[in-house]
Amino acid sequence: MNDERKKEIYALVQKQIAATLEGENNFVAKMSTISCMLKQNFPHFYWCGFYVVDKDKENELVVGPYQGTLGCLRIPIGKGVCGSAFKEKTTQLVADVHAIENHITCDPKSMSEIVVPLILEGKVVAVLDIDSDVINSFNEVDKHYLENILLENF
Ligand code: SME
Repeated sequence: MNDERKKEIYALVQKQIAATLEGENNFVAKMSTISCMLKQNFPHFYWCGFYVVDKDKENELVVGPYQGTLGCLRIPIGKGVCGSAFKEKTTQLVADVHAIENHITCDPKSMSEIVVPLILEGKVVAVLDIDSDVINSFNEVDKHYLENILLENF
């Protein structure tokens, strides 16, 4: 998908998400809605959802609301792309998951991915993980819009 098309879709979805979530405070409702609306609008997103920092084990992520094929349940801090976003508090862009060692393969369909941390009051509370079955799907355009969608809605 070219960047112009991507920007058009993100701009629209961003508005739709904001409109749908207006006045909503519940975290699960927000995470479910964001996962659903992103996945529905980008056909190559085969897994789209959240891992949340576990209340009982603060160094571990546990699966949250998502859409797609079965994801692994728990990810320790630093492990895989999600664990790296959690540890480093920065968005991780992976053009080719086969080119990196620190990747957790939940589904062999996975080709590329982006993970955006959700940071509240300086602490990572969850990460948004999007996996694509197309190589090199993500770039600065995705990073920009996804970071803004999280900033705007939490
Ligand atoms: N891709 C992730 C693992 C989670 S799933 O693919 C749903 C990672 O390496 O962090």
